[in-house]
Parts: sequence; C-alpha cells; structure tokens
Amino acid sequence: MHVGLIFGTRPEIIKFSALIRLCSTHSNLSFFLLHTGQHYSYELDKIFFDELNLPNPDYNLHIGSAPHGEQTGKMLIGIEQILLKENPDVVLVLGDPNSALAGALAAAKLHIPVCHIEAGRRSHNRSMPEELNRLMIDQIADHLFTPNEWTRQNLLKEGISDDRIIVSGDPIVDVVASSKDTAAVCSDILQRLSLEPEQYFLLTLHRPENADIPNKLQTILNTLDIISAKYAYPVIFPCHPRTKKVLAMHKLILKNIQITEPLGYMDFLQLETHASVILTDSGSMQEEACILHVPCVTLREDTERSETVQIGANILAGTRPECIMDAVESMLHADKIWQNPFGEPGVSERIIRDVLYIITKIA
Ligand code: UD1
Ligand code: UDP
Repeated sequence: MHVGLIFGTRPEIIKFSALIRLCSTHSNLSFFLLHTGQHYSYELDKIFFDELNLPNPDYNLHIGSAPHGEQTGKMLIGIEQILLKENPDVVLVLGDPNSALAGALAAAKLHIPVCHIEAGRRSHNRSMPEELNRLMIDQIADHLFTPNEWTRQNLLKEGISDDRIIVSGDPIVDVVASSKDTAAVCSDILQRLSLEPEQYFLLTLHRPENADIPNKLQTILNTLDIISAKYAYPVIFPCHPRTKKVLAMHKLILKNIQITEPLGYMDFLQLETHASVILTDSGSMQEEACILHVPCVTLREDTERSETVQIGANILAGTRPECIMDAVESMLHADKIWQNPFGEPGVSERIIRDVLYIITKIA
C-alpha cells in the first residue's frame, strides 16, 4: 500500500503533522511526502518539520511564489512527474491552498484516487482564491474527509454523493492535543514578550483582501491600536511575509502593536492558548481558538468555518472599526462554554484507517 501526501504551505504542514508521524509507524504502509515549495522561508516551512518531528520531504519542487496560474501550473508539471514515478495507490491533499488543488488535479488526471482532508468548507465567496480551490478539489476528489455535519451538509447541497463523504473530524484537533502540553513546557514566549496570561490580544493578518490593500490594513491596525489603549492590553502581531512586505513598502504605522516574525508552532500555540481574544483572518486559527476555548474575532466578511460563529466561539466582525471594537468588547465577556465541533483527538488515526480500507477495496 503506497500513499502520496502532497502539500506546500504552513497550515498544510502543521495539519498533516500527526498523520505523517502515524504513517511512519504503520508497517503495511509505504508513503512519500511531496512538498511543492509554495512556502519556503524557514519560519513558514522548515521550522515545523523540526518542531513537530517530521521526516524531510522525499521531494521538494521548490516552486516558490508566483501569480496563481503560474504557481499552480508549475506545481502540476512537477507533481505529475513524481506521481508517474511513484505510482501511489492514493494521494492525500488537505485544505484549500494552490498546492492542494495542484496535487488533487494532477492525481485525478492520472486516475489516482484522491482523498481530500478538510473537505466541504465553504465561505460562499468566490472572489477568495481558496474558495475556488475548495470547490474544484471537492468535485474531483474521490473520498471527502469532512470535519463535521456542517461541512457534510455543504457537500450534499452541491449534489455530491453521500458515499464519497466520510465525517472524520479535523486533524488540527490532534495537533493541538499533542502539542499543547509540550508548548506549555518548551515555550517561554510569554516571558520573552513580558506578557501576562489573558492580558493581551493576538493578531494575525494575511488574506489578500486585508493584507494587500494598504489603506484597509492601516485602518485595521489603527483600530487595534485604539483597542489596545482602551483595555491596556498589548497586541502581539506575528506577521506573515505577505503582510510584512506591504507594511514596509507603504511605511504603515504600528503604534502600540508589537510585531514579531512568524513564530514556530510551540511559541504560537502558547500565545494562542493564553490570549484574551484572538483577532485574525486566518482559517486554521478560527479552529484553534475554538478548540482552545479562546474567543475569536474574525476580520473578514465571510468564513468557511461558520460553525465556530454559530456556536458562539467566533464573531465575524469584518474590518469596519466600530464592528471590530464591538466584537472585541463582546468576546472579552464570552462565556467560553461552547463544544468543539471538530471532533475528538484520534482524527488522523481514523483517516489513516479509512485510507487503508479504501486501498484494500481498490486492490
Ligand atoms: C497561501 C495560501 C493561503 C494560506 C496561506 C497560509 C493559496 C492561494 N494561498 O497564502 O490559502 O492561508 O498560504 O499561510 O494557496 N512569502 C515568503 N515566504 C514564503 C512564502 C511566501 O516570503 O515562504 C511571501 C512572498 O512574498 C509571496 C507572499 O508571501 O509573494 C504570498 O505567498 P503565497 O504562497 O502566494 O500566498 P500566501 O499569502 O502565503
Ligand atoms: N501559525 C504559526 N505561527 C505563526 C502564525 C500561525 O505556527 O506565526 C500556525 C497557526 O497556529 C495555524 C497555522 O499556522 O496552525 C495557520 O496558518 P495560516 O494562518 O498562515 O493559514 P490558514 O489557516 O489561513 O490557511
């Protein structure tokens, strides 16, 4: 039984990590790791292999940054060659980056069964590049591992047959469960940044709709500055390179906001765990906040994680200053008693078990 795992960005590496470690322990399973190289800076890539005890990828295509078409096209060319050489029984892709789309498409064209993990997420906003990727991957994948009943319903509404869908939970649950205690012991980030638990805000921004529009980015940062002063809590902002480039190019002002490099998972998880409120446009952080019972304010107009909003773990604030301020005020008083909708730990193990079963059925 031979499995190919294809990925290329920070969240894919993190969310695949528990599953990759499990693959190494299965004696009747061989696997290969194919990294597209979409993310390549140490702090978006290699740091997670080091911290999360992952083997080096068997292949790295070193595609790097480029416009969507060029980036995805180059990935398709490189992935196809490796799939022809490795001839896996199935290919696993996760989430919605271009790397996942290219992996799914290259495999499907070669008639290699595709398993999509985190299937069924929908923001219903097609101007978001990831939404197009999600729609296309879920159409061409053979087996859709979906986090929960909300995401299963999204797939059914699109006419996808129930026998392609497996409600597995989300593998981020395993990553948080296996890393939280280690982070508490290994990370001294709170001391390094002189932070008191539950007395700071954690901010990340990297979506093009926020990060690539200098005026909008400045308005968000000004609002966070006011919020920081109002509550006398610092704002910690580990900054994605995409956003950092725009901050530098347009000389944007960050008054009371403490900017850092993108952090490793242990430091970042520790910061998430003890934040008073997480403010973000990240997808995975809406989930992690929910799992950690830390209130989240999402700085977007829509989300593909709408279940977090429905259960009261997250407010979709958009980016207007008064809406962000109201959402923060409200989330500072959240009761934090929601149930995690992403499944119990053991998701990655369940996915592997089902993948092995799928391979036996094909043989
Ligand atoms: C990509 C994904 C997004 C995901 C995010 C995770 C797509 C369409 N987007 O967005 O879904 O949420 O990764 O972080 O697949 N850069 C570096 N070093 C790197 C990578 C990028 O400096 O290792 C800079 C480059 O200037 C690049 C910019 O960041 O142009 C954007 O990178 P890109 O991979 O195109 O998109 P992300 O914003 O990272
Ligand atoms: N993350 C990290 N260091 C950081 C910022 C984020 O380790 O400085 C982790 C975070 O815990 C989550 C993932 O990276 O698991 C989120 O990645 P990102 O927001 O870039 O992508 P998205 O989830 O939006 O696709």
